[in-house]
Amino acid sequence: MSIAISALTPPDAPLLVLGIESSCDETGVALYDRREGLLAHEIFTQIEMHRVYGGVVPELASRDHVRRVLPLTRAVLASAGRQLSELDGIAYTAGPGLIGALLVGAGVAQALAFGLDIPAVGVHHMEAHLLAPMLEPDPPDFPFLALLVSGGHTMLVDVEGLGRYRVLGESLDDAAGEAFDKTAKLLGLSYPGGPAVEALAVHGNPSRFRFPRPMTDRPGLDFSFSGLKTFTATTARQQAADPTAAADIARAFSDAVVDTFVIKCRRALKQTGRRTLLVAGGVSANRALRLALGDLGEEMKVAVRYPALAFCTDNGAMVAYAGCLRLAAGARNGPSFSVRPRWSLEDLAPPGAG
Ligand code: KG4
Ligand code: ZN
Repeated sequence: MSIAISALTPPDAPLLVLGIESSCDETGVALYDRREGLLAHEIFTQIEMHRVYGGVVPELASRDHVRRVLPLTRAVLASAGRQLSELDGIAYTAGPGLIGALLVGAGVAQALAFGLDIPAVGVHHMEAHLLAPMLEPDPPDFPFLALLVSGGHTMLVDVEGLGRYRVLGESLDDAAGEAFDKTAKLLGLSYPGGPAVEALAVHGNPSRFRFPRPMTDRPGLDFSFSGLKTFTATTARQQAADPTAAADIARAFSDAVVDTFVIKCRRALKQTGRRTLLVAGGVSANRALRLALGDLGEEMKVAVRYPALAFCTDNGAMVAYAGCLRLAAGARNGPSFSVRPRWSLEDLAPPGAG
């Protein structure tokens, strides 16, 4: 059971929450119990469907969420040995994300909650990512610094508590995951690009190319990855005749991204004095990044924490968990609801703060 939940609510009241994630190309459904922790989770990834297009096609994504949400809901209930009627609340991703995809999860969650006469709560997708490391045993406690690195967002956030977020820096253009995906495309690798670039980079020569570490030579905590993308594209063009170059380019790109994160995290840790760094979002699955931030943690005597690999990329467990925290603290949607394709993390407030 999580320390964070028990700190917010009386630990003896039951709270069984169904979480639904449908912001992009993964349908994730999970069941989280505040006393027993994560009971079950299921994911269906649409990667194969979108692969031929080299990226996510929004309308295809929405239609597939429609097909998956209820079967996955039945599957998590069956694997946990629970009934729909035992649910105390339903959480769903309300944004940011693709509007049609978000509406599918929100519509199903609100309809189920209405039918069962239980509360529903819309969860911010990046808050869910941010809290995902807390699903692990011995969860870290607030406050902490968070590095969020996903396909749509890259940011450093000072986290004082649930809903108390200050964005210290973010990407001015491409997100880190997007940069991995675009680099993969340039190198003729498959979608999604992060794992493919990572696998190729392992075989690359680290001293053949040196790519720039964007925005590290000036103060501040913002990021920019579009220049690095151009640099990668130019190098790939120049080396087109050399079949051995792709691995070395993947390595140079990966080293540049990882170094950039280490430099900015060191800076943010110094600035805030936080003793814990949480790293979450799809790119936090990257082993080179984990190794480098692990070294930084040792150097600065800072604890560095991640979600389990299954919960780095989009999943229902993080939504069920974030929803459970918010429902436990009294958050509820009214009967009408909306989704927010664009939604700043800083617009959130602690539950009960109005
Ligand atoms: O968090 P996520 O599942 O979705 C968003 O909320 O955007 O992140 C997906 C992103 C993709 O861009 C993918 O290429 C990247 O995470 N990613 C990785 C790795 N695994 C996934 N990037 C680098 N290394 C990885 N191992
Ligand atoms: Zn995500």
